[in-house]
Amino acid sequence: MRKIECITRCGDCAEVLLDYPDNFFDLIVTSPPYADSRAKTYGGIRPDDYVEWFLPRSEQFFRVLKPTGTFILNIKEKVVDGERHTYIIELILALRKQGWLWTEEFIWHKRNCHPGKWPNRFRDAWERCLQFNKSKRFQMFQENVMVPMGKWAETRLKHLGKHDVIRFDSQVGSGFGKNIANWIGRDKAYPSNVLHLPTETDNRNHSATFPRALPEWFIKLFTKEGDWVLDPFVGCGTTCEVAQKLGRNSIGIDIVRQYIDLAQEKINPVEMMLFEKRVKYGKRIKK
Ligand SMILES: C[S@@+](CC[C@H](N)C(=O)[O-])C[C@H]1O[C@@H](n2cnc3c(N)ncnc32)[C@H](O)[C@@H]1O
Repeated sequence: MRKIECITRCGDCAEVLLDYPDNFFDLIVTSPPYADSRAKTYGGIRPDDYVEWFLPRSEQFFRVLKPTGTFILNIKEKVVDGERHTYIIELILALRKQGWLWTEEFIWHKRNCHPGKWPNRFRDAWERCLQFNKSKRFQMFQENVMVPMGKWAETRLKHLGKHDVIRFDSQVGSGFGKNIANWIGRDKAYPSNVLHLPTETDNRNHSATFPRALPEWFIKLFTKEGDWVLDPFVGCGTTCEVAQKLGRNSIGIDIVRQYIDLAQEKINPVEMMLFEKRVKYGKRIKK
């Protein structure tokens, strides 16, 4: 039986990651502190300072991620002074300059978001899950996230037009060629890039957890058993908990001791010899 390691570490991820070698992780999946959020618990970064705060950390993520690995960033811009702040758009551009490819954007549709009323907008019911890679040849297991064909089998697939029996490329250039007739008689299809997942109500003593199903979907899509998953802003350990259940090794980092304690309650750590020797691999960031 393979030993699955699940390690949680307390500290600033920019510092802790110095203990890890280049090209080590297969997947980074994380939800960082959103700008101006929860200033009392873990600092709160002003939207205007967000990119500058994030870049030294993503520099470490780039270093420790394998060339075939994927980085999933779950984040959502806030409203400042009546309009959406642009810090995430600026972050995407800055990450591209740092060397990342912005490969895809998934939308997490929060199926059960609570009702509310705002004077000039509707409730937020979705967040971004931005996908970044170091190279176009990243590891991906699309079969692992196939979904039941569902209503398509009785509706669309029963009424095919002449364009549905030939392959042609997407008009938006997403590279998605289609020949819908190929799907007749199959019971599973590939999902879209919209994930319809409810938030979880057992908030696990952390005010900003994501549902287990979110890291689970990306871990299945981008890793295989025995691979290494990193969550550098792990909160109460959702990513590590799921990674362990799926037979992936994981490392979770959080700056708040109390969250690391919560994470450790639900996972089963296995000591790892490699990192007892505290070699520093990356460059320390200037504070
Ligand atoms: C949005 S929460 C993540 C919640 C997590 N996805 C979960 O399900 O529990 C962001 C986390 O980042 C942590 N954090 C903030 N700054 C950090 C830093 N520099 N390094 C590591 N963790 C940090 C916070 O303490 C917080 O728990």
